[in-house]
Amino acid sequence: MAEVRLTINGKDCKAENGMTILEAARANDIRIPTLCHFEGLEGRANCRMCIVEVEGMRTSQPACVTKIREGMVVQTETEKLQAARKATLELIMAHHAVDCHHCMRIGSSSEPSLDPKFCEMCFWCDCERDGFCELQTLNREYHVDVLPYIQHEADYEKDESLDSVIRNPNKCIKCRRCVDVCGNVQTVHNLSMANRGRDIMVVPELGKPMAESACVRCGHCVDVCPVGAIYMQEHKDEMLYMAHSYDVDVAAQVSADVLPELAQLYKVDESQISMGQVVAALHKIGVKTVVSDEHARATSAKQAAEVIEKKAGKEPVIITDSNAVKNFVDRYFPKMKDKIDCYDSAQTSFCKNAAELAGEKPLKIVNITNIKEAGAEGKETGNADYVINARELYRIFLRTGGAPHRKKAQSFDKTWTDGDLPYKELLGRKAWNLESDPEEVAVLINGKACKCAVAHNLGQVRKLLEGDYKNYDVVRLMA
Ligand code: SF4
Ligand code: SF4
Ligand code: FES
Repeated sequence: MAEVRLTINGKDCKAENGMTILEAARANDIRIPTLCHFEGLEGRANCRMCIVEVEGMRTSQPACVTKIREGMVVQTETEKLQAARKATLELIMAHHAVDCHHCMRIGSSSEPSLDPKFCEMCFWCDCERDGFCELQTLNREYHVDVLPYIQHEADYEKDESLDSVIRNPNKCIKCRRCVDVCGNVQTVHNLSMANRGRDIMVVPELGKPMAESACVRCGHCVDVCPVGAIYMQEHKDEMLYMAHSYDVDVAAQVSADVLPELAQLYKVDESQISMGQVVAALHKIGVKTVVSDEHARATSAKQAAEVIEKKAGKEPVIITDSNAVKNFVDRYFPKMKDKIDCYDSAQTSFCKNAAELAGEKPLKIVNITNIKEAGAEGKETGNADYVINARELYRIFLRTGGAPHRKKAQSFDKTWTDGDLPYKELLGRKAWNLESDPEEVAVLINGKACKCAVAHNLGQVRKLLEGDYKNYDVVRLMA
């Protein structure tokens, strides 16, 4: 790809032709603030936080959609730009739920290191993103405190109809990340923008409640929402209460997928938090039994391997352990249902194994994972009592003073001998991505080299189920 030379804030920069100013700046370690932009999604220029000055252009340009050209001269941090960004934030706050306006974490405190633990002592706000909100962070950076515009208090009702994926339109900043993810990546097209002007809002299919809409509960709108407008139903209070209770025992399965976000929230390097330290912190709050999800994953993979070994080579084998994929197939590919072999998710396997962990007291089962669809799976199948994500875990530890990275590591309470996870390249831990094509992997099954595919999002699932599955021996579907 041809190289382009440009100047950003006086620094000579090189970037690939076709990049936006934002991409070029990031490639050269220059930060430009963003709010609506999400890496991997097409830029929409909805918020104008990323505006920059380009020599020769009369108005400021949104860096997230403006392409670079040879010799371009860009300024990203002039006083005029900073004032314009602050005004943008003030306008956004004029349409944002009022609880944030009481918050010292916005701009009214000059204390630079106001950590989220402050939030655990505050009674004004019950926002699920408090302390981790992209809007809140920018408000602090730009010292947005006294709000100059009249507050537009819409007071929309929260949509809690699913009891898993929850919408709170009062917090929505209309960035459209969720609309793009649900439509362009997941191909569900459940979310869209409705109304005009200041009443514009995100609504599920035909304005129905989420429970009656096309939502398949994959939870990826939650992953991309920068504020507390879409979130998974939380259970940190119940989990803490149960862990402290003398009447019940709590058994928790923890997945290593919570470690990167925990490290980010504690502002430490990932290498500084281990699973053993998380085990110690969970024991401290009263969780009786802590196990890793490795065993449950191996149990599930073995179930899948049996099906694969029985059928591979005779017909394309399609497997899934995803609750959201099952919902997606029910809705969009009902005729393919009989062709798909479902195996237990790691959450279901753990809940089945948990019977072994029960003592004399009733047992509450908690799955701690950052995979959002697990929360919906718990609600829909009733397999786990509570599903907790990394952010909830962090807040539980803040309340109880149990920072894991300061703890001495402890061992898991039970380990099973599993042997290796079969067909790791196919059945191993895989992450959601925003690509349009599935991953291809070659796997030796029954002594024969087999062509396999892994779908990492529902758009890829759709592509495979529309016919591409016939090109493979084995297809694994994830949401
Ligand atoms: S949970 Fe998935 S399907 Fe439902 S609205 Fe969000 S992105 Fe769309
Ligand atoms: S719900 Fe969240 S992701 Fe969707 S438009 Fe509103 S703020 Fe953006
Ligand atoms: S991040 Fe560029 S306009 Fe929102």
